[in-house]
Amino acid sequence: MSTGTCAVAAVTGAASGIGRATAVRLAHDGFEVAMLDIDDAGLAGTRDLIEAGGGKAHAFSVDLCDPLAVGAVAREIAVTVGAPEVLVNVAGIGLLANVLETSDEDWERVLAVNLTGPFLTTRATLPLMLDRGHGVIINIASVGGQVGLAGRAAYCASKAGLVGLTKAVAVDHAAEGIRCVAICPGTVGTEWIGKILANAPDPETARAAMAARQLDGRMGTPEEVAAMVAFVAGADGRFVNGAALVIDGGLTAA
Ligand SMILES: NC(=O)c1ccc[n+]([C@@H]2O[C@H](COP(=O)([O-])OP(=O)(O)OC[C@H]3O[C@@H](n4cnc5c(N)ncnc54)[C@H](O)[C@@H]3O)[C@@H](O)[C@H]2O)c1
Repeated sequence: MSTGTCAVAAVTGAASGIGRATAVRLAHDGFEVAMLDIDDAGLAGTRDLIEAGGGKAHAFSVDLCDPLAVGAVAREIAVTVGAPEVLVNVAGIGLLANVLETSDEDWERVLAVNLTGPFLTTRATLPLMLDRGHGVIINIASVGGQVGLAGRAAYCASKAGLVGLTKAVAVDHAAEGIRCVAICPGTVGTEWIGKILANAPDPETARAAMAARQLDGRMGTPEEVAAMVAFVAGADGRFVNGAALVIDGGLTAA
């Protein structure tokens, strides 16, 4: 239960990768973190990491595509932890497919997790932020929301949609004290990328090619993305609103 002394941050996708690093970083920065994911074991691992560092974290098991479940978990968080001042939508899935290779089911699943999920969590959390008169919503999009990435049609569509949702929320609610910001990472070395590489015919060559896409010649780390989240969420980021911030080692500069 909340001691009532810490601001609350809700982080989706906190069981793994960028979401885990974000939850750990925000806890380190003094937030009490409500973590939402479908992966219970991963959530427990993140909670252990945070508690080992002296932070406070609470795990909530939820499929973020389920409107009723998202509404219920948002109410549970408000009662048991407190109303979030920061919401970070990190949960997402990928799909390596162009339009011709994309089934109806795959299209709907990618849009459901990557776009409908953030819509549902925003709709459930925003009233609590409006009651308080301030709040920050940060959506982890992708460079795929800024440019077309080969063989990722549904993914790019979902992330471009998330950038659009971000700007719309910022425009609608800035005057009420709400900021909404998208962060667009390039390739980040997470479990997700590990799975893609493991399935490649030659994982080491595939890893080198992925690293070479960045001008910096390496993949980003989850902690680097989490640091940008922490900046936007904190007082130093208060003039950042409605933006799509790119953190990609120069991938989209070329
Ligand atoms: N890794 C990259 O290179 C990269 C680059 C740009 C953007 N991103 C974005 O960053 C986010 C996190 O990526 P990651 O690499 O850390 O991935 P990841 O696979 O390591 O973590 C994603 C998390 O989302 C959770 N999740 C998926 N579907 C869910 C659902 N329906 N309900 C609840 N939880 C669900 C998973 O359980 C997992 O814990 C994604 O939105 C992704 O699009 C990643």
